[in-house]
Amino acid sequence: MNRGLASLDAHAERLAETPLRDLIAADPARAEDFALRVGPLYASFARQHIDRAALVALFAMARERDFSGALRRLFDGESVNATEGRAALHTALRSDLSTATVARDAHFEAANARQRMAALVAQLEAGGVTDIVSIGIGGSDLGPRLAVDALAQPDARFRVHFLSNVDGHAVERVLGGLDPARTAAILVSKTFGTQETLLNGAIVRDWMGDGARLFAVSANVERAAAFGIAAERILPMRDWVGGRYSLWSAVGLPVALAIGMANFERLLAGAAAMDAHVIEAPLERNLAAWHALVSVWNRNALGASTQAVLPYDERLRLLPNYLQQLVMESLGKSVRIDGNAVDAATAPVWWGGAGTDAQHSFFQVLHQGTQRVPADFIGVVRGDHAHTGNHAALLANLFAQAEALANGQSSEDPHRVYAGGRPSTLLLLDALTPETLGMLLAMYEHSVYLQAVAWGINAFDQFGVELGKQVANRLLPALKGEAEADDVVTKALLAELKSRSRP
Ligand code: F6P
Repeated sequence: MNRGLASLDAHAERLAETPLRDLIAADPARAEDFALRVGPLYASFARQHIDRAALVALFAMARERDFSGALRRLFDGESVNATEGRAALHTALRSDLSTATVARDAHFEAANARQRMAALVAQLEAGGVTDIVSIGIGGSDLGPRLAVDALAQPDARFRVHFLSNVDGHAVERVLGGLDPARTAAILVSKTFGTQETLLNGAIVRDWMGDGARLFAVSANVERAAAFGIAAERILPMRDWVGGRYSLWSAVGLPVALAIGMANFERLLAGAAAMDAHVIEAPLERNLAAWHALVSVWNRNALGASTQAVLPYDERLRLLPNYLQQLVMESLGKSVRIDGNAVDAATAPVWWGGAGTDAQHSFFQVLHQGTQRVPADFIGVVRGDHAHTGNHAALLANLFAQAEALANGQSSEDPHRVYAGGRPSTLLLLDALTPETLGMLLAMYEHSVYLQAVAWGINAFDQFGVELGKQVANRLLPALKGEAEADDVVTKALLAELKSRSRP
């Protein structure tokens, strides 16, 4: 077994007998020592079920797994996506932190692509378009959707709408109320082969009638052109950007339209600041390393099979959706890069929702359920509204939940016992700005990569999503009554469907 991971077990056993509140009481200085600040982003790991000795073991594991070398290889554009034989150069889209030619070229190319993007934004701003429909799914949707929801102001130049699901109801909801003559549409698809995006894109293309306001972002320019989109309206993407890491590329066009090109550049600058921190800071002061190590600890040493993400800011309500893809598509692997089975559990199931709403839905299971669910709480110090009383209440709830989950409370009545010992990380942004959002998302990207390094898996492929797509393609003719299904259960389901369908 991975020696580093094995070394954690003894610490887990030792700490199992010590309640989290006792760990904190015995070492009050950890409130400061287990916290880091990177510019406007403060992070506290003081409420994780670790102590200083366990941390030493975790950082020894980080060295044994060569976290620093792995980061360098990522930034330098080495083939870290080994199963697909390519680099993962999302950092080059926003940072110039490598002297490797391939990374410098990528950085240069990305700057050129942003110039084209800026021209396109200016062109649309000058026209009579009021609404933008962004058509994409997964990594071609979740990042832009989150950034627009988090950062767009009510008086934005455009209303930006997102269409992802192949469900026709989604199309109707998005197009209903829009005027085709005042709408522009962007098909965002790295491969330009994604069923949902092509079907929805064709509906929107026909609805618009006029192809002049149809744009694409893709790594497959030929396919986009064959779809009927003129070359000057296609923005490029490259193979070396993974879909779920692509917000910083031309995939961010809907974001640039919603918040303006200058603010989009600020988002990239925030991510670049995090890149600089992550590549330069020693491991013990490295936020992404801390976050990754704590995640590995919770998964492997504490055996936590799920992880909650709890943004206490309405503007970040889509963060759990975004992180679900980033983390689970990257880390949902059972085979190491070398082809052998993994020797430790990998990605937990990530889920969550915005506070305080979530407190009134699923928090019961966090406080008194039978499994210990680690949580990432995310808060924002300064709200951008005038309702100071609400903001104080929001932050009071945020701090209260983290405290109550960690410390618990005893009672004579077994129904009113709170066991405590529920670990959490607190990430606190000074304010929610394009820069701080960029920093936060880049931190998660790097944490995910380092977790993959700890487990020896590839964070950048996603073969697991292919089989379902293939089966769906095979079944489509059967759904239309043009063929038979092979699988007996599916056959019975199709018969049921047929008997219930309206003629
Ligand atoms: O289904 C998974 C996936 O391949 C994601 O990794 C990707 O972000 C998404 O589909 C969309 O892919 P594309 O941008 O090629 O349409």
